[in-house]
Amino acid sequence: MLSRASYIVNKLSAGSSNPLCFVLNNAFCIVWLLILCLKRNMATWIRSLPGAWWESSDERALRGLVEKQVKVDDVRANPAEDENCRCFKRARTDNVSSPEQLRQHATGKLGMKPQVWTAKKVDSLGYKEAHKKFLADFSEFAETEKSFQAIRDKDFSCLDEQELTFLDYTGSMLTPLSLIDSHTEFLRKTIIANPHSNSLPSEMASGVDERARAAVLNMFHADPSEYTIMWTQNATGALKLVGESYPFGEDGVYMYAPDSHNSVLGVARYAKQYRMFPFVQGSWMWNIPEACKLMTAISHVSKGTNKLVAITGQSNVSGIKHPLGEMVRTAHKNGWDVMLDSAAMAPTSRLNLSEIGVEYACVSFYKMFGYPTGIGALVAKKSALQKLNRPWFSGGTVRMVRSDTEKGLYVIMHKKENAEYFEDGTPNFQMSAAVEEGVRYVQSIGIDRITVHTSSLIRWIGGELRQLYWDEDSLGRTRPLLKFPAMKSDDGCIQGSSLAFAMYTKENKLIPHQLIGNVARERGIAIRTGCFCNPGTGLEFFQSSMHKLSSGKFFEFADGNPAEDILDEFRGIGFIRVSVGFPTTFMDAFKFVSFLKEDILRRPKDISTLTDEWLTKMAPPASLC
Ligand SMILES: Cc1ncc(COP(=O)(O)O)c(C=O)c1O
Repeated sequence: MLSRASYIVNKLSAGSSNPLCFVLNNAFCIVWLLILCLKRNMATWIRSLPGAWWESSDERALRGLVEKQVKVDDVRANPAEDENCRCFKRARTDNVSSPEQLRQHATGKLGMKPQVWTAKKVDSLGYKEAHKKFLADFSEFAETEKSFQAIRDKDFSCLDEQELTFLDYTGSMLTPLSLIDSHTEFLRKTIIANPHSNSLPSEMASGVDERARAAVLNMFHADPSEYTIMWTQNATGALKLVGESYPFGEDGVYMYAPDSHNSVLGVARYAKQYRMFPFVQGSWMWNIPEACKLMTAISHVSKGTNKLVAITGQSNVSGIKHPLGEMVRTAHKNGWDVMLDSAAMAPTSRLNLSEIGVEYACVSFYKMFGYPTGIGALVAKKSALQKLNRPWFSGGTVRMVRSDTEKGLYVIMHKKENAEYFEDGTPNFQMSAAVEEGVRYVQSIGIDRITVHTSSLIRWIGGELRQLYWDEDSLGRTRPLLKFPAMKSDDGCIQGSSLAFAMYTKENKLIPHQLIGNVARERGIAIRTGCFCNPGTGLEFFQSSMHKLSSGKFFEFADGNPAEDILDEFRGIGFIRVSVGFPTTFMDAFKFVSFLKEDILRRPKDISTLTDEWLTKMAPPASLC
């Protein structure tokens, strides 16, 4: 209507020099513009009214739809519906089909729009006081704080530029800028090619590769006359390599720790007999005497059979580093081979193979120095490799093959102590150069200094979190916000670079980990929530809910298609994990603790309501890993 009026005034004033017409015409335009702006702001404002206080408008829209049980497919089939939901509109044009993709859309991941966090301003006075006390309590940290800050400023500046508090270093180290630079420089200037050829560039690639292998062995104190290294895709690849080649046969036994990563548990698929040794009751500590007894007893009844025990350097859930010496000694005394999962330990602790003497150890390099991904290693005793038999051969693993219609295949494999026997196809020859750089990078910082830096931060965070209590309720009760399984340091256990806990409402109801992960994300804090591919700790902690699955039906559960109602019982069950790395600063730790105090503890009612809502409406089917 307004535009029509403006049009009429325009017509009337056409060719007219009347100043009134001129003013009227412009006034209409201004009013028209004002209304347009108001309309847009009002819509945003109205949309912002319902829902949780931290949700972005996209998320709120998504939440509205989830609450209305609108499925992606329905919306795609019926484009007229819910035109007001921006993310759904974008989803349609970009052909997004799964709810997960949709969620990513809502947070801008697929659209690649820049991430915008609503990071809170830090209480600078509180920070200064806490920092001062922290430095006084952790004097070793204080000595090297400046040099770690310099690394942070040089190689991880994007964290501060984007105001992201990253506390998921057990998931992966972030990529240091200087490693990308040095690797790019290397690739620009060096001509390397498939090392299986005989050319100069191949020779160059082989030389680089050899240097990288030597650097890794050196880093892990592995004597090259005793140990060798095989490149794998990651730690999982290394575990699988041992699992599929270990001669379990009919009577061989596989044993593993209760808080093992799924990649360790998966090896049980290759063994006809497998056992788990238990935790100390009510805690996340291994029952080491029990484990040693079990190994001894099994070796008495199954003399001469092959036995493999898997232990973990640092649990990726509890963050505990167990004393390994006694277990390894008992294992060796009783004829067991030992496989060490050092994926979570190696990034922040010294792995000394000459001291611990395990047969097999595995790592993922992206966890240690953040670049590159897609390459890990199995470091193994040459003598232990003699035992392994690969179930297949491929380019790279053989010296000669003849294929004959009548006589079949004639194959000469590489020697078992050679890495080639275990490496399928062309090795990752570009990335092994980056591994050498990465090793040098970590060594220049110093692994022992990294241990002090990270363990100081995690101990401080743990101490602060243990003091978080809800206010008294009407009956005068106070309840802890968080629950940690007990750990006694006098048992030789050490808290590594991570910490996990479960969070409870004021009414003592488990807060779904997804909810906390979501709130943290909106605050610009990256943490890990769930069970982290390690169901053992969950089994111990959430026993009452897990009883259905704790009846030795591991394989049936994994093989079958579990009924929805079983999955339903696990809604929201899982932990919250914070993990630190050498780029972590005290400010990161302080921000996380402040986040729990300000965003969770001060909002008991919101948290309780959202917990109920999440459990009934929002939670996706749970996964146990
Ligand atoms: C203890 C532990 N073992 C094994 C793995 C598997 O590592 P990847 O996924 O790099 O193979 C992880 C990954 O987080 C881990 O923490």
